[in-house]
Amino acid sequence: MTSKSCLVLLALLALSLLVLPGQGYLGQWYPVKDLNDPHVQLVAKSAVEKYNAGLNKTAQYNSLDYLKTVKGKYKNVELDDGKDFLLNIVAKKNGDGSVGNYQALIYDDPFFNFTTLLQFKRLDN
Ligand SMILES: *[C@@H]1O[C@H](CO)[C@@H](O)[C@H](O)[C@H]1NC(C)=O
Ligand SMILES: *[C@@H]1O[C@H](CO)[C@@H](O)[C@H](O)[C@H]1NC(C)=O
Repeated sequence: MTSKSCLVLLALLALSLLVLPGQGYLGQWYPVKDLNDPHVQLVAKSAVEKYNAGLNKTAQYNSLDYLKTVKGKYKNVELDDGKDFLLNIVAKKNGDGSVGNYQALIYDDPFFNFTTLLQFKRLDN
């Protein structure tokens, strides 16, 4: 191995061990302390919006209305502020008006202000 690639490896290792100031380690889950934080609310609402957008025509009557977020944790997944959020969301089904608990896994990129819905499931029935 050349000393150059050795240096690159060392740099990568250093990066992977880096503690993000005020944000904790990469890849570890932390509780979301303020569920009413406007940004957390934005992420939670975007999860429901994206879930609704993914429903086909016959399932659209079952689209959801976001009500609130009752629990959440996050994980730093990138050095640039990118985070995965795992949020427990209460939402109302438009079809029959039933209120239920859902869990969404969302990737949030605050820098480019976009979210990706990775997973969305009902927790009870
Ligand atoms: C629409 O979505 C529902 C619920 O996921 C599914 O059961 C159904 O097969 C889908 N229908 C079509 C036409 O894709
Ligand atoms: C980020 O996007 C959301 C919805 O897509 C929008 O409501 C919000 O104003 C945007 N925030 C910024 C800082 O651009």
